[in-house]
Amino acid sequence: MNVAQIISAKRDGSELAESDIQQLVAGYATGDVPDYQMAAFAMAVFFQGMTIAETTVLTRAMLDSGEQLDWPTGNPVADKHSTGGIGDKVSIPLAPLLACCGVSVPMISGRGLGITGGTLDKLESIQGYRCDLSLDEFRSVVNFCGCSISGATGAIAPADKKLYALRDVTGTVPSIPMITASILSKKVAEGIDSLVLDVKWGSGAFMKTLERAQELARSLVTVGNQLGVSTTAVITDMNQPLGRMIGNAVEVDESVALLKGEAPTDLTQLTMELCIRILEATGVEPDHNNAAELLQRQIDTGAGLKKLTEMVANHGGNLDATREREKAVDIIADESGFVRRISSDRLGVAVIEMGGGRKQLGDQLNHATGIECLVKIGDEIEQGQPVARLFCDDENVAGYASYLVSAAIGISPIQPDRQPLIVETIK
Ligand code: URA
Repeated sequence: MNVAQIISAKRDGSELAESDIQQLVAGYATGDVPDYQMAAFAMAVFFQGMTIAETTVLTRAMLDSGEQLDWPTGNPVADKHSTGGIGDKVSIPLAPLLACCGVSVPMISGRGLGITGGTLDKLESIQGYRCDLSLDEFRSVVNFCGCSISGATGAIAPADKKLYALRDVTGTVPSIPMITASILSKKVAEGIDSLVLDVKWGSGAFMKTLERAQELARSLVTVGNQLGVSTTAVITDMNQPLGRMIGNAVEVDESVALLKGEAPTDLTQLTMELCIRILEATGVEPDHNNAAELLQRQIDTGAGLKKLTEMVANHGGNLDATREREKAVDIIADESGFVRRISSDRLGVAVIEMGGGRKQLGDQLNHATGIECLVKIGDEIEQGQPVARLFCDDENVAGYASYLVSAAIGISPIQPDRQPLIVETIK
């Protein structure tokens, strides 16, 4: 292999041979290809892109750099991945709901990235919850409970782990072929039959425009299916937070509320939709209405909440232990009108300022801080009405966070159109 020639060929816009991509990725994983050459390659891909055939080979090569799980139980095995958003806690109720319906969910999840929260950080607000299960422990929790949500070990797609860190510091993260390979190599390694992707667009999402989200969704669906996983993508709106709660402990509380049938409509609607897509794809319940009824039964009977409690206990945690919240501070509307805009990215920054997210790698989180967003775009509000609530003990920090949250909520005299939460499904 001549790495310099592979880089030059991509720089000049050529389609690479399968063997070149495979050898490059394998060489990078073993350390034979140095970071400086891989960084140059990543930049060439960033500018020139990759065909679907090349992206599929890249994904397969990253997948083959590590272990792949298999599940001999006979149950369908599925997962969901979200490209990340503000207040997106769907994974926490989704995994137990699907497990109750006979679908195994081996969910390898991540920590907060930029302004978006991470499922593992949220789960760690539960007393005792361990996210660092070994692969053997992870297998046994999935086999016993039907679902587990844990962190990646170095054994899963190690080439992605290295390349992701390199992209992060070389300005090459927003490349659709590399995002596709990064997400799918980790998900396919879970040994799943079906995958549903929640590709978000908007102010609180990675993809700021609908067009980019559609492009990413098409790439993920095509490559996922080519790798033998039945893959569907749902494109959803992230121009306002999902549900009301943003933070860590408060998002676990809202997940529990969903499993009691008490969550905000948007959060429940999206969780149900993603579960239904999986029940359809796995063949557990191909009819949309029957699938919705099956899921509703898991909520009405308390089976979903019981399953979450069981999963948490198998991770060493206690879902019933009180999760503290810091002192509540209300943010008041200074004029009457209609909510025209909620800049979710600013809410994400406010949570980070309160210690609920990281400014630097390794920062310890304060799980008890957060925001409750009391309004949605299109709501009519009166001057003096609370529009959001912060949970923050530190008065100085609360002052700055209040400023960010007030600036995030725009009010106008004209009622804006309400945008659909679920924009499109790509199969
Ligand atoms: N999430 C990932 O896992 N990889 C990316 O490249 C982007 C988001």
